Amino acid sequence: MNGELSQDIREILISREQLQKTVAELGACISRDYAGKNPIMVSVLKGAFIFMADLVREVTVPCTMDFMAVSSYGKGAKTSGQVQIIKDLDTNIEGRHVIVVEDILDSGTTLSYLLELLRARKPASVRLCALLDKPARRKVPVHIDYRGLEVPDEFIVGYGLDYAEQYRNLPEIGVLRREVYEK
Ligand code: IMP
Ligand code: MG
Repeated sequence: MNGELSQDIREILISREQLQKTVAELGACISRDYAGKNPIMVSVLKGAFIFMADLVREVTVPCTMDFMAVSSYGKGAKTSGQVQIIKDLDTNIEGRHVIVVEDILDSGTTLSYLLELLRARKPASVRLCALLDKPARRKVPVHIDYRGLEVPDEFIVGYGLDYAEQYRNLPEIGVLRREVYEK
């Protein structure tokens, strides 16, 4: 990891190699399960954009993509519990097989809200693919169909995950120093 960005990182939790391996495994599972189904992969902006970009290149079956943006955090490191749709899908998902691609499942508030919203649009199916799972903080139970790695109850950044919009461009996932968000 390089200079200026790394000063605020306490430790690297997941290396580039581990991320690559995990994403390849998830892509292989999705490719196996969705043969002939032409799924629509729905990514939740902004946190999942890097994961989505890597994941779709590991998916070997035809698929389409769309993006949603929701916000439940504001600038802080703790969830506000409020979910807001900032950008909705461009695609009509009725009758489609939907795969929601999310960076991390924390309290579950965002995802349970989003999955309910998508299910109301009468898709053929909805499944969730989450790169990271932080089960220690779950408030609402959410089933993860394709689950990457479990992470401890720490605030992490990198590989798309931010703190106050910063650190998304770290190529690995690291634990943010407490001093950074408890200032
Ligand atoms: P939930 O509604 O609490 O499950 O929050 C999910 C969203 O919060 C994720 O999509 C992330 O954008 C964000 N989030 C949760 N934990 C972290 C973290 O440790 N670092 C950065 N973002 C996080
Ligand atoms: Mg997110």
